[in-house]
Amino acid sequence: MVKKNFPNPVKLIQYYNFINYNLIYNNEAINRYKKDSYEISADKTDNLEKLKKTINNIKNCSLKYHATNMVFGDGNPKSKIMLIGEAPGANEDKEGMPFVGRAGALLDKMLAAIELDRKKVYISNIVNYRPPENRRPTDEEIRRYLPFITKHIEIISPKILVLLGSTAMNALIGSDVVISKMRGKWIEKKFGNCKTSVIVTFHPAFLMRQPAQKKMAWIDLKMIRDKKI
Ligand code: URA
Repeated sequence: MVKKNFPNPVKLIQYYNFINYNLIYNNEAINRYKKDSYEISADKTDNLEKLKKTINNIKNCSLKYHATNMVFGDGNPKSKIMLIGEAPGANEDKEGMPFVGRAGALLDKMLAAIELDRKKVYISNIVNYRPPENRRPTDEEIRRYLPFITKHIEIISPKILVLLGSTAMNALIGSDVVISKMRGKWIEKKFGNCKTSVIVTFHPAFLMRQPAQKKMAWIDLKMIRDKKI
């Protein structure tokens, strides 16, 4: 009797992934001219520049006084997904970029787990300057920067807004909500002219302190991955 050699299914799947089998079985024409475009409209560029200048011109702000750099935003301004954290830390202050320290490394991993690249989303914070000693921004500081982050959301106009942690949640949804009840739910919200679906999840810095909560964050991440936009 001739023994048939059936391929090992796991190896077969790995192989199909490896050879990018979509290219073989998908009979849609490949558009070789359409690149992942990061070009943004003149209007959006203008509005972002104006907002940056306005923040840069803030006077009598002790956050700004103590900080080295303004941390405005990072990523693709055309993205349908915007993430908002709390405030820059020491590394962010040094580099002028959000989420580039240890919390940022975890955020990158969280995004990668749902096949998102941080360059493809847009990231900012509730306040644009690092609070001394990495303390939480005060209510007064949050109130002062709230119009800027609201305008920032309106300019980016994301379909999905991810609020990382309770500072971002309380600033943008309300001070009467708690993260344990609020996370993992979609709510619709308007920021200026931008109507968007908002989800709250744990801040990566919190997840580093409480790794047991990563399983809840994973639920939230899958909701983001599976959201039809
Ligand atoms: N934590 C934040 O909330 N934002 C950053 O940019 C970095 C750490």
